[in-house]
Amino acid sequence: MAKGKNTTAFFCQNCGYESGKWMGQCPGCRQWNTFVEESVVTKTAGNRIKMARHVENKPATLSEISLEEEDRISTHMQELDRVLGGGLVKGSLTLVGGDPGIGKSTLLLQVCRNFALDNREVLYVSGEESLKQIKIRANRIGEFNGCLKLLCETGLEAIGNIIRSTKPDVVVIDSIQTMYREDISSAPGSISQVREATGVFLQLAKGLNISIFIVGHVTKEGTVAGPRVLEHMVDTVLYFEGDGHASYRILRGVKNRFGSTNEIGVFEMRACGLKEVLNPSEFMLSGKPEGASGSIVVCSMEGTRPMLIEIQALVCHSNFGIPRRQTIGTDFNRVNLLIAVLEKRLGISLGNCDAYVNIAGGIKIQEPAVDLGIAMAIVSSFKNMAIDDKMIAIGEVGLSGEVRAVSMVNARVQEAKKLGFTTCIVPYVCRESLKGITGMKVVYVQNVGDAIAYL
Ligand code: TYD
Ligand code: MG
Repeated sequence: MAKGKNTTAFFCQNCGYESGKWMGQCPGCRQWNTFVEESVVTKTAGNRIKMARHVENKPATLSEISLEEEDRISTHMQELDRVLGGGLVKGSLTLVGGDPGIGKSTLLLQVCRNFALDNREVLYVSGEESLKQIKIRANRIGEFNGCLKLLCETGLEAIGNIIRSTKPDVVVIDSIQTMYREDISSAPGSISQVREATGVFLQLAKGLNISIFIVGHVTKEGTVAGPRVLEHMVDTVLYFEGDGHASYRILRGVKNRFGSTNEIGVFEMRACGLKEVLNPSEFMLSGKPEGASGSIVVCSMEGTRPMLIEIQALVCHSNFGIPRRQTIGTDFNRVNLLIAVLEKRLGISLGNCDAYVNIAGGIKIQEPAVDLGIAMAIVSSFKNMAIDDKMIAIGEVGLSGEVRAVSMVNARVQEAKKLGFTTCIVPYVCRESLKGITGMKVVYVQNVGDAIAYL
């Protein structure tokens, strides 16, 4: 057998940048001290893993391509289906990233269970846990049937052979960082190994029309190890995130070749596995204090779904020359900007006050539509005046204090109405889209001052 020539190169462990010599800083991602020497195998016919090919590829016209109903299969988890863009696409490669212990293995085992209950052949490959450990987890989740097969293996060639001979419908690889090819001498988890392994699974998924889920660990910086390399290769990238202290978890699409990436799925970790949270607004507002100053409810759009979230602000006298400003769950600079607008446009002097803004529930929101809510919460805390519990505020605030239009205002107001809110503060420019609203007092405001006057 012809052996591949073994040479070495240096790879950035963060982004996969390849270089002939060691470098202190990576020119690709600007990270320091990330280069590690790894051996590169020049591929020859002898050492290339056999690729799965079941049909010869021919050029086709668009009209010749049929989209069967069955091209998407439901995971029987509404939240996951939505993030995937309406079900799992056959022959797709999906990367699921997240912190250790967040529930990636639990989620995928539950998905496997649902597919198996649909009589689809499922293979769960674990390189991290023993079969016994998986069984303990499975026992917590519920009953399984015989369509789910488990495999403890980390060798790529062995896994490839099993997949090629059994041709399951769905495969889960937990995790990509434990997979390795023997003829590459670098350690499992290194860029060369991860890239090679992902390449093999990509070939298997496309060649045999198998849907494959890959679990990826995240680095300290919060990205999947070797992120660029992996993200380019797979069809869909999902991040499973959540606050370690809260029981809910959020599944977020970062890349999706078959759907939108704005959607999120909300789950709650229970003693018997993950449970979908179909009405996250109710869940997010469950601990809201009544009659407290500095607290207001806003509505943020997460993809196509409106979500009500409580914003809390605390403004208190500062004991030091430079006041402290802190935010949790929202953009720090945005809050500073809103404080400046309040000072300049409304003459509220916050210069000697500390200000803290918190998005309750540990969720992160970036949407500017929550600006008005943040501004009102800050003023409410500053003046020590509670905001009506049944009121929500929607609107983006501009630098001259004007309240600007937001998208999908109707859906937001409807969501508030559904949860029993009676008053909505919305931008004046949105009044056309809210004409038909009944059973809700809608207050149109043109600038922050109008909204504050309504406190
Ligand atoms: P796991 O899926 O192993 O995380 P990951 O694969 O992302 O590292 O999740 C493990 C955590 O979830 C662990 O802290 C225990 C908890 N858990 C539950 O609370 N309930 C359950 O039913 C299961 C299976 C796990
Ligand atoms: Mg795991």
